[in-house]
Amino acid sequence: KKPPLRKGSMADVPANLLEQIHGLETIFAVNGDKLKAITNHFIGELDKGLSKKGGNIPMIPGWVMTYPTGKETGDYLAIDLGGTNLRVVAVKLGGNRDFDTTQSKYKLPDHIRTSSSEELWSFIADCLKTFVDEEFPNGVKGKLPLGFTFSYPCSQDKINEGYLQRWTKGFDIDGVEGKNVVPMLQEQLAKRQIPIEVVALINDTVGTLVASLYTDSETKMGCIFGTGVNGAYYDVVSGVEKLEGRLPSDITSDLPMAINCEYGSFDNEHMVLPRTKYDLLVDEQSPRPGQQSFEKMTSGYYLGELLRLVLLDLHSQGFIFQGQDLTKFQKPYVMDTAYPAKIEEDPFENLEDTYDLFKGLGVETTSPERKLIRRLAELIGIRASRLSVCGIAAVCKKRGYETGHIAADGSVYNRYPGFKERAAEGLRDIFDWESKPKPEDYPIHIVPAEDGSGAGAAIIAALTEKRLANGLS
Ligand code: GLC
Repeated sequence: KKPPLRKGSMADVPANLLEQIHGLETIFAVNGDKLKAITNHFIGELDKGLSKKGGNIPMIPGWVMTYPTGKETGDYLAIDLGGTNLRVVAVKLGGNRDFDTTQSKYKLPDHIRTSSSEELWSFIADCLKTFVDEEFPNGVKGKLPLGFTFSYPCSQDKINEGYLQRWTKGFDIDGVEGKNVVPMLQEQLAKRQIPIEVVALINDTVGTLVASLYTDSETKMGCIFGTGVNGAYYDVVSGVEKLEGRLPSDITSDLPMAINCEYGSFDNEHMVLPRTKYDLLVDEQSPRPGQQSFEKMTSGYYLGELLRLVLLDLHSQGFIFQGQDLTKFQKPYVMDTAYPAKIEEDPFENLEDTYDLFKGLGVETTSPERKLIRRLAELIGIRASRLSVCGIAAVCKKRGYETGHIAADGSVYNRYPGFKERAAEGLRDIFDWESKPKPEDYPIHIVPAEDGSGAGAAIIAALTEKRLANGLS
């Protein structure tokens, strides 16, 4: 089943471009049967990740071994190193499923993705110093407990450490992979005499899960659809085979254990995902070829790049942008996700915003070319949303969840036009639900998450302090 063409006249589109559009529709379409096959394979991969032998999906225990009750209280700091900003948050947990936050955002210097380790941790420590000086002008008693949201795959044997397995989402800073990031930050904090202690290192998905569960007991997963794509859920210690023999005695097999799936790396062995030649190109030209296969087809970091690569290919075959100087457009990643998002929002009949966007990149577009671009943006957006819910469906099937809320955050979820409806349709196709008018009418549906990297990190810090205070590990 091909996704239907959007309304709007294609009358001025010449036959050769229409043919290209139809070709793209074929390669980018993912029907319900394919989604089901992907989901089934996904379930097996989640299980492999939990086994001693391991698999492609890391399935990292997050060492959050309780559910929040909503009664947690206290003052905490939280930081979140995202793709564009460092967010610093002071969180006051109210104890009645409520919280207050005060936050500042510090833009990451442009070159930081590829800078040095020293530069990264110094930058974060400097931002924390500015924040603490502003928010606590009278100084601090003791040390401020901090929950650090570090949204990259990190191995943890306990909650206040995290050995970076590998960078994702285009980060490529030497000297961090394989190391524990907590002491690196702590060292820069000590140099500046900032009274902060990192009590918990968490993934953004785990923060989202816990923050949402603090306010909504129906929460089953925390998911990010943003620069990266990932999800977290609660398993049980006994269900995590690879923990056998690695546990302190007070961690019993019946305890819950939050798992950061890191399912962006699903299908790295290329068994089921319908990769096009453009997906292969994105992969080859990335700093980490062969990794994050699922993420490279679904996350915001790559959607604009996919669009650009298809258009360049059509240009090289003489179908579009004939005789134009494409120097600016040839720059990798020159189109971020805002491009396909804006193109999809542009009224179809004239596509003026699309015209301006391309003009800004030095490309003069004709009306038929813009219609092709628009259709292509839709195809890429539809494919991403449909594929990305396979991770949700797999976790729900694995855990036997038939109803519940999937708490979601991230730029694609929050800002990409049509994502929510398309994601709901994808889930419906997988679960064979009867069609309903609204996404929230389905038994399992995606809801906007609570502030995972602020409140979530703080709640986890509070849960950790409580365990420690009770003499538990
Ligand atoms: C990438 C990271 C993962 C994170 C996700 C969303 O997949 O590896 O840790 O949760 O992006 O930010």
